[in-house]
Amino acid sequence: MELAPIKSELAKRLTSSRYEHVLRVAQLSKEMAKQHGVSEIAAEQAALFHDIAKCMKKEELLQRLQEADEDKRLVDFHHELWHGPVGAIIAQETFGIIDEDILNAVRFHTTGRANMSRLEKIVFIADLIEPGRQFPGVNELRERSKGSIDEAMYACISHSIEYLVSKRVAIFPDSFDCYNEYMLKEGII
Ligand SMILES: [Fe+2]
Ligand SMILES: [Fe+2]
Repeated sequence: MELAPIKSELAKRLTSSRYEHVLRVAQLSKEMAKQHGVSEIAAEQAALFHDIAKCMKKEELLQRLQEADEDKRLVDFHHELWHGPVGAIIAQETFGIIDEDILNAVRFHTTGRANMSRLEKIVFIADLIEPGRQFPGVNELRERSKGSIDEAMYACISHSIEYLVSKRVAIFPDSFDCYNEYMLKEGII
């Protein structure tokens, strides 16, 4: 698939700062894909789509979510979590993406989940540590992301959960499932 039509759709849908973020996530995802033996084409596509629904209105996101066969628990959680699943719906509908791995990388890029594929992990990690991100601890995450993909994913999901706890907001169960996978399975990290 040509990337130009995706980029022009993104430029229409997103603010310029969000669009720039998406391009940085795509670049980093491609680099990580090469490093970890994942399709660079799939990584770039998934990363380009990951925030396609990010600038939609809360009401519209809710409507799309309720119409779709997505996780029904999401509506009870913060609307920040809705743009992943809705982004997967839009990638499928508007661009005919049928690769479930790409769609899942978009769908789960905010929450994570248990048993993520390498592509899903790459987009999750790249979204958090792309060069434009600035938050306390980001450099440590970047360092830890130079090792194995599971070490990187564990560091990133732990950071996300700690951050959400510090903000006293509800945490979607998939994020705990993702974290617990690293606690329960020996020898991954
Ligand atoms: Fe996002
Ligand atoms: Fe993002």
